Amino acid sequence: MPAPEILPDTRDGHARAAALLRGGALVALPTETVYGLAADARSDTAVAAIYAAKGRPSFNPLIVHLPDLAAAEALASFPGPALALARAFWPGPLTLVLPLKPGHGLPPRVTAGLPTVAIRVPAHPAMQAVLRAFGGPVAAPSANPSGRISATTAAHVTAGLGDRIAAVLDAGPTSVGVESTILAPAEGGTRLLREGGLPREAIEPLTGPLLLDTTPGAAVEAPGQLSSHYAPRAPLHLGGQPQPGEITIGFGPTGGELTLSATGDLAEAAARLFATLHTADALAEARHAPAIRVAEIPETGLGRAINDRLRRAAAPRG
Ligand code: TXA
Ligand code: MG
Repeated sequence: MPAPEILPDTRDGHARAAALLRGGALVALPTETVYGLAADARSDTAVAAIYAAKGRPSFNPLIVHLPDLAAAEALASFPGPALALARAFWPGPLTLVLPLKPGHGLPPRVTAGLPTVAIRVPAHPAMQAVLRAFGGPVAAPSANPSGRISATTAAHVTAGLGDRIAAVLDAGPTSVGVESTILAPAEGGTRLLREGGLPREAIEPLTGPLLLDTTPGAAVEAPGQLSSHYAPRAPLHLGGQPQPGEITIGFGPTGGELTLSATGDLAEAAARLFATLHTADALAEARHAPAIRVAEIPETGLGRAINDRLRRAAAPRG
């Protein structure tokens, strides 16, 4: 495929993105978390093209994006605290894994054959505009090749997937910077499947203590949680003493050649995380650096999602 069309964040750009989706094409779209690799969720061939473009294993289901709660209620049921969560945090960086309703109209490939579907109502105005212009459910995983660093700019998308997609809607860098938090709400308790842009501290007042999936079997149920993920090409180390030649990424008082946030602000660090990893990886490659080393990040609020991504980026490669 030739280079992707770069669509502007205007009414015409939104309309063009919707028209491409209607034609079954792949279009990268901004959300407030990361860019998504979008296609018509009702089309089995369009959904198959997402898996092919990302090199994503077929057992790893996709998130379905909808403009509002009413659209979500047509596809899935809302057990336990699900409705309260949706009312409190949609639109926003929250994905809910919910039981599919009969007649939902999604091909099994979207959910990898599971009886549940992951649904998200994103807040980004450009994504909202495209969802409304398109008028149907949009399947979108993060717009990066499977296992690599997620995309928070249109340039990241083009660098990773450029020859495999029809277009990218460029709305500048995303604001949250880490993917949505994924919850599976149920009567008996709500499971946390992925730490993300909505911190645990905001959720637990509505759900009670979240159940954490730490058993190995959980990796099959939330298959995106494979241990090596978000991986730069260079090895990545967390904390510890920098070694000669390493690319260093600081946080707060721990300086570095790059920094996630000089003031130690976790929201800024989340927003800059993937762009900083992309930059560090390019520097490491140019200089044949032995590794990238990241300062320690506190395990609170958005720090949990940042640490989750960093630990996966540092995990031994499969
Ligand atoms: O912020 C985000 O969530 C971004 C933007 C584009 O919306 N999307 C994203 O998608 O991060 P992706 O595909 O990279 O991650 C989706 C995660 C995967 O870990 C997948 O296993 C999980 O959602 N998932 C999807 N459907 C599921 C289901 N029915 N049950 C359990 N986990 C599911
Ligand atoms: Mg992803």
